Amino acid sequence: MSKQRVLTGITTTGTPHLGNYVGAIRPAIRSSEREDAESFYFLADYHALIKCQDPEQVHQSTREIAATWLALGLNTDKAIFYRQSDVPEIPELCWLLTCMAAKGLMNRAHAYKAAVAANQEAGEDPDYGVTMGLYSYPVLMAADILMFNAHEVPVGKDQIQHVEMARDIAARFNHHYGEHFVLPEAKVDEHVSVLQGLDGRKMSKSYGNTIPLFLPEKKLKKHINKIKTNLLEPGDPKDTDDSTVFQIWQAFATPEQTEEMRKAFAEGIAWGEAKKQLFELVNEQLGEARERYEALLANPKHIEEVLHAGAEKARERSRPLLQKLREAVGIRPLG
Ligand code: TRP
Repeated sequence: MSKQRVLTGITTTGTPHLGNYVGAIRPAIRSSEREDAESFYFLADYHALIKCQDPEQVHQSTREIAATWLALGLNTDKAIFYRQSDVPEIPELCWLLTCMAAKGLMNRAHAYKAAVAANQEAGEDPDYGVTMGLYSYPVLMAADILMFNAHEVPVGKDQIQHVEMARDIAARFNHHYGEHFVLPEAKVDEHVSVLQGLDGRKMSKSYGNTIPLFLPEKKLKKHINKIKTNLLEPGDPKDTDDSTVFQIWQAFATPEQTEEMRKAFAEGIAWGEAKKQLFELVNEQLGEARERYEALLANPKHIEEVLHAGAEKARERSRPLLQKLREAVGIRPLG
């Protein structure tokens, strides 16, 4: 039996934080060890341009995200790890798909609809500030997925609609030009935790409440000390359910350690002490990876080489498929 192809992309607009690690990076690296699957993980830098027009930020984020995945031990002999913009077949496929994507389908995309709603709210023209990049975002994402005929696409809930759109576009292409594409499925892992940030809301760059993954030790400690807690005194029993400190603990601890902390909460551990232990746990688990991360960032040429090798492997798949697709739509040598 041929292997399941698992594919996911990371938009290169920010610095990875603990929420990204627990919710996406750690499960993806684990899943890449599966024997029955082949993983395609890539840096979605063309998608980054839709959200971010600051060249320095896109560049810096690409470097940091690549270094993060490598530092955390992604095995690039097994997983195909590449940068979207190193695979020119993707934007080429994007055009073929654009010609099969119904405009009405794109009108229903959540991100586009949210932009229109915000404009209407503000009394602006509905399409004020909406670029064709934002509007066609789902088509580029469909190209990412269909280029490698991925079966499974691990994503967060907010991206399910995009994967469904990729299915729609693929089905239409297949119907018109013959069976070229696998219909992909979104995989939302209900077991991975969605971390809360410093203020108790979901940890997210847009809320400015994140704890970056590879902060230097002192800064990590400072950030952890900033996590919002209630006013309960040492000795007062504390509730684990709504506690960010406990939740992050749980995401890093063994089940036994989690039970110990649960007991400590019931027995009234002081917030300062709980945070100190949390810092030690996270720091110990990320310490070695942080050293590799620093070393990688100091040697971006090496990162570049790894990405190029990954793109070469990806293109061994994308070149022949694109060739077939060009033929299928009638773009063929004339004689
Ligand atoms: N849109 C995704 C996000 O913002 C990133 C992404 C781009 C992606 N292309 C993809 C995810 C293809 C899965 C498959 O999270």
